Amino acid sequence: MAELKAAQSIDEIRAVVRAARREAKSIGFVPTMGALHQGHAALIKRAAAECQHVVVSIFVNPTQFGPNEDLAAYPRTPDEDAQVIYDAGGSSVFFPTVEMMYPRGYRTYVDVEGLTEHLCGASRPNHFRGVTTIVAKLFNIVAPDKAFFGRKDFQQATVLRRMARDLNMPVEVVVCPTVRETDGLALSSRNRYLNESQRAQALCLVGALDAARKAYAKGERTSAELKRIARGIIELQPDARVDYVEVVDAESVQPVDHASDDSVMALAVFMGTARLIDNASMIGER
Ligand code: PAJ
Repeated sequence: MAELKAAQSIDEIRAVVRAARREAKSIGFVPTMGALHQGHAALIKRAAAECQHVVVSIFVNPTQFGPNEDLAAYPRTPDEDAQVIYDAGGSSVFFPTVEMMYPRGYRTYVDVEGLTEHLCGASRPNHFRGVTTIVAKLFNIVAPDKAFFGRKDFQQATVLRRMARDLNMPVEVVVCPTVRETDGLALSSRNRYLNESQRAQALCLVGALDAARKAYAKGERTSAELKRIARGIIELQPDARVDYVEVVDAESVQPVDHASDDSVMALAVFMGTARLIDNASMIGER
């Protein structure tokens, strides 16, 4: 069985990718912040199905965290992560350091305008600037044919697809379905912050989405009403605090007054110290 190659430096991962290219292999890329779960594994499996060499990066990117966010506390589980990557069919793993990615004198940032100021961008200023900057850098280092992102982070996937198109990056952005626990909770590295009661209460995210989808199926089209229904479900939980509930166009991520089959409900909820997000289109699979 092929072994998982670990690269600690930019030169090393470039050499690994070069060697794969010499064997005429296509390169798939899955950027992550580690603490890997089956949601990440699904992206790696999809990448392995579509590409012959799959690079996974693990980097807890400081520029996408706000000053009062969980950067220092973000879970780090490198040994378990290597096993998840191997089992899912990954070929190599890149673990850069902060000093490598942002050396002294670092000055350059990528901003995608108009898609990043609302939803997660409203409560996390500079978050998407950090995401687009690190993903642009990783694309330049890995030079993949395809990069795989999760639908769970719906706004992020849309922003990154826009960035790749706008900057003529020669990479195809592939968005994969949200992987959920059997009870519906979207898998997230941040779920491990939840205590038992909060874990149970966290089902209000998917409950809110399902209630709005049901109302939509019965003919409700007014976004304000769909949002009211969703908020009502979340606010029943004592530890839940709504950050936002929004109905947006699936392509543009802009809020809409009237929902259609092309709309997505996106929401973020603080549950204790954890901030959880989820989204679903008004029709079809969530
Ligand atoms: P991270 O939160 O580690 O997520 C890495 C990738 O896994 C993202 O594309 C995310 O959407 C996907 N993912 C997470 N949970 C998922 C789930 N339940 N189902 C399907 N996919 C899921 O997102 C980031 O890291 C960072 O912002 C990053 C893009 C790596 C830039 O630093």
